[in-house]
Amino acid sequence: MKILSFETSCDETAAAVVEDGRKILSNVVLSQIETHRRFGGVVPEIASRAHTEAICTVYHEALKEAALSIEKIDAVAVTSAPGLIGALLVGVNFAKSLAFATQKPLIPVNHIEGHIAAAYPAFPELEPPFCALVLSGGHTSVIGVDTYTSFSLIGCTRDDAAGEAFDKTARILGIPYPGGKQMDELACRGDPKAIPFPSAAIRDSQYDFSFSGLKTAVINFAHKAEQRGDCLPKEDLAASFTHAVCTGLESRLEHVFQDYPYRKLVLAGGVAANSHIRAALQDFCRRQRISLFLPPLSLCGDNGAMIGAQGYYNFTAGITADASLNASAVSFFSFKAPKNKKSFSPSAGENPVKNG
Ligand code: KG4
Ligand code: ZN
Repeated sequence: MKILSFETSCDETAAAVVEDGRKILSNVVLSQIETHRRFGGVVPEIASRAHTEAICTVYHEALKEAALSIEKIDAVAVTSAPGLIGALLVGVNFAKSLAFATQKPLIPVNHIEGHIAAAYPAFPELEPPFCALVLSGGHTSVIGVDTYTSFSLIGCTRDDAAGEAFDKTARILGIPYPGGKQMDELACRGDPKAIPFPSAAIRDSQYDFSFSGLKTAVINFAHKAEQRGDCLPKEDLAASFTHAVCTGLESRLEHVFQDYPYRKLVLAGGVAANSHIRAALQDFCRRQRISLFLPPLSLCGDNGAMIGAQGYYNFTAGITADASLNASAVSFFSFKAPKNKKSFSPSAGENPVKNG
């Protein structure tokens, strides 16, 4: 089954063709980063307009790259939540019109579930149940993936998302938006133990995160350095910040794998591209005897292929929509409360680390 999929939830206009949820025939991403950079973040109104201008182009490019005509497409999938409402509406309306005009099924896809599904094309052997750590610009969650279409929220951030924390710290260092990638590069040249920043774990919950304390600690450190007239040790600051994020993630995951029977971990979202987080989780999973699935960098950030991958499993489970489909800024699939604690016995972790 060939699915043409669209993603317009934030600042990437993307379209892809994916076969049976696993084989990427095309994956076209038009980034708006340059447009938003001078404003220091995504401007929702500008994002919607840029999606409107770009969506026809990515549609044609995705079909061209897959060497297919629209007649050969079996269904149309689209991100319908969560995200910037105006941005989402561009993709939803385009997909709706296309599905109606060509008489093909329309499949709504949740953006976070899409991020998780990015691992399916990269790892043909990967099947639920597994635990997913979603680290993106807008979300930080630990999710139990019990089947391809049933999810339970185990833990999440109480304030900023991981990507937001990277971008805000980068801003303090004078790095233009979005600074995550440059923070990654800077941290390679710094000492992760140079500055003792607080970890992103919080005391009153075993599974939740908080990034605001860490952000405040970075701001305070920068102010004090400024008052003293010291130069900011950018490399050490980036490395120490990243170290604090990594230790926070590891401490939460330790509780999750103690309390839940999952033996596989899938890393997902734009921040999953971070080389230090990838390395730290490789170490962690080796120690814990958990199989780790790291998608290739091209599938970490927002893209259309991840929506086509999840779209296939939604369709298989009977999740489709009609012309009344609307977009929603918040998640419309309410994740089920964690109820699967120790409720199934997956096979023992074989412990290889899989790099896509
Ligand atoms: O998943 P994504 O593409 O968009 C959302 O759904 O939010 O994530 C974008 C985020 C940005 O905050 C960006 O700075 C961050 O991912 N990011 C990184 C890296 N590459 C992208 N953060 C840390 N290290 C990276 N290498
Ligand atoms: Zn995303």
